[in-house]
Amino acid sequence: MLEAILLVGGQGTRLRPLTISTPKPMLPVAGFACTEHQIALARAAGVERIILGTSYRAEVFEEHFGHGENYGVELVYAVEDEPLGTGGAIRNAAAHLTCGPNDPVIIFNGDVLTGLDISGLVQKWREANADVALYLTRVEDPRPYGLVPTDADGRVHEFREKPTTPEEIVTDQINAGCYIFKRSIIDSIPSDRPVSVERETFPELLAADRIVIGVVDEGYWLDLGTPLAFAKGSADLVRGIAPSPLLVGRTGEALIETSAKVDPSALITGGTYVGHGAVIGAGAVVTGSVIFANVEVGSDSHVSNSIVSTAAQIGSRCQIVDTVIAERAVIASDKALEPGSLVFPDEKVN
Ligand code: GTP
Repeated sequence: MLEAILLVGGQGTRLRPLTISTPKPMLPVAGFACTEHQIALARAAGVERIILGTSYRAEVFEEHFGHGENYGVELVYAVEDEPLGTGGAIRNAAAHLTCGPNDPVIIFNGDVLTGLDISGLVQKWREANADVALYLTRVEDPRPYGLVPTDADGRVHEFREKPTTPEEIVTDQINAGCYIFKRSIIDSIPSDRPVSVERETFPELLAADRIVIGVVDEGYWLDLGTPLAFAKGSADLVRGIAPSPLLVGRTGEALIETSAKVDPSALITGGTYVGHGAVIGAGAVVTGSVIFANVEVGSDSHVSNSIVSTAAQIGSRCQIVDTVIAERAVIASDKALEPGSLVFPDEKVN
């Protein structure tokens, strides 16, 4: 039986204020929690059992997913009382694995949107007789990421966390946040303290001459960690640029839930998602945005590349660009918010 661990316990500080009440992996991207897209992807690759490593707002996951009855996989929860970091979370989740010491375990960061060929990555791990296989992706600007150069055989010999000088940018390959671990390697991670898999476990494996390979996948990848990336990820899913088994046959310029009320003169485009019960007024233009359930957007307002959380209200003739509006916030009519604004839950902008 193929097993996976999803790491979903982070604080999601870069997505505040959206993550004050909802953990990042549970925020809706194109109408489904990121975790839900990942569960569907894992299931499509033959994964039958998934352990969710939770910490921050742990209860939200079990309330939503139960034990997987509706998701076609068995879901198990490994809750950390104190956040254990990525490596500590993997080790903590290992207590719930049923596989043997030499079996592969798939591990996913909870905020990665990807169409990764998981079975292909497991296959490469097997062929290389690897201890760990890392999913790598290429990015234009690798500075905010952990760089992972590989040799001609795909072996990893060093990790470079967040390079700062041009000389340090030795590759455009970055750690894309999905790994195949041999089970016994997980069991060797310390269990009694926080551990970072990126900063501690991986460098230690290299120092011990373990076989760590990097596999570049050229398919879609996006880290949903920042507001702009989150809005882009949702729009890419809606438009079918990012793949998800949950959206097959539903892609287009907009995804509007049937219970939403959109005035016929409003323009909803650029991959915008409009949630249940939302109301979009006459002449409004909404592009590349995520509109959660029960949001109201007044007439002639323009909203672009923004995230508007549950039951927030935007008045008429507003200009909202690159902005995050948290739940139940109220924006008075005729407001033009500074691009990049963050509006807090229940805040009133008059
Ligand atoms: P930021 O605070 O905005 O950096 O987000 P984050 O807290 O999610 O951190 P980051 O994006 O670096 O985390 C990568 C993945 O690991 C995310 O899916 C997190 O949910 C998860 N993660 C990070 N720290 C922990 C932890 O201590 N425990 C568990 N279970 N998961 C974690």
